[in-house]
Amino acid sequence: MRYTKALTLCLILLLALASACVSGTQPANNSAANGGPRTKKGPNDPIKIGFSMDTLKEERWQRDKDLFEKRAKEIGVQLNVQVANGSDSEQIKQAENMLTQGVDVLVVAPHNSEIAASIVESAHRQGVPVIAYDRLIKNADVDLYISHQVVKMGEMQAKYLLDHVNKKPANFVIVGGSPTDNNAILLHEGQMNILKPAVERGDVKIVADQYAKEWQASAALNIVENALTQSNNQVDAVVCSNDGTARGAVQALDAQGLTGKVLVSGQDADLASLRLIVEGKQTMTVYKSLQPLAYGAMDAAVKLARGEKVETTETIDNGFKKVPAILLEPVAVDRNTLLSTVVKDGYRKLEEICAGLPPEKCPKE
Ligand code: GAL
Repeated sequence: MRYTKALTLCLILLLALASACVSGTQPANNSAANGGPRTKKGPNDPIKIGFSMDTLKEERWQRDKDLFEKRAKEIGVQLNVQVANGSDSEQIKQAENMLTQGVDVLVVAPHNSEIAASIVESAHRQGVPVIAYDRLIKNADVDLYISHQVVKMGEMQAKYLLDHVNKKPANFVIVGGSPTDNNAILLHEGQMNILKPAVERGDVKIVADQYAKEWQASAALNIVENALTQSNNQVDAVVCSNDGTARGAVQALDAQGLTGKVLVSGQDADLASLRLIVEGKQTMTVYKSLQPLAYGAMDAAVKLARGEKVETTETIDNGFKKVPAILLEPVAVDRNTLLSTVVKDGYRKLEEICAGLPPEKCPKE
């Protein structure tokens, strides 16, 4: 009898322990957006915002960082920026540190869209709202997602090349970005929205379709080199998902004397790629205006810290919930539209794009 009682007690204890462990790993449902920030800030209270970045490798991210810092100064916010240099464990550690230091809101540009879910859980356990910046965080209770229309960008890249290729069927290579970045997946989805029907019509043949690890130009170079070897240099267009990978592709094409003959897309309006566009080696890029993105994220963060409502344009399903989102318009840029887009917008000066290039190649203002 005593024995059974002891056993029952043990069982109850075990069950209680197990349920405590499970609830510890569940996404926090005390969502900061629903429950409000840990202490709602008044209009004159100082606000601390943490910005956890994956990388500064691509030129654009330095610009995002600069814009965050500029906006923080303008609106008197205390900003802490940490860069994880492509390491998930580093990004998690840095986010934990910022939470310990008492940030009111965390803005995260995740290295890995799945792994970063644990950052959201930690933040929410402390009542801190999280904004996913540029890249969505999957399967997590994200408070807000701010980015550009990424699927549309993939469509723009593929459509531009399809509209400008003058062969039927045309041989296409697809170079995706990092498979751990949700943007790379969305871009590929957009590219296939255009290319799949073209393949079915018999207008396009896809000779290679691979993701470039960590968005590396060297990985893109390898993918394009192999595609050229396997197709006996019969490649007509390379759909690259960003400018860094586009430059890897251009290097592989250059080695075969094919630049200018093969169409290449990109994304980011990197200076080096704008110069390749002027030279005729890269065909197009997708320009994403970063000021509204960075300022939008900062201003939204302040609102969340004060427990105010943020106006959003749509929702995006991240596997956990429909995340309220603000998605900005991307713009396609080629040689002919360079002046009316990136230059007009003040993103880049024509002199810096054309510096050292033959003047006759440079578009005239
Ligand atoms: C994507 C981002 C691009 C590009 C790339 C590599 O997620 O949207 O603009 O920078 O990452 O970092």
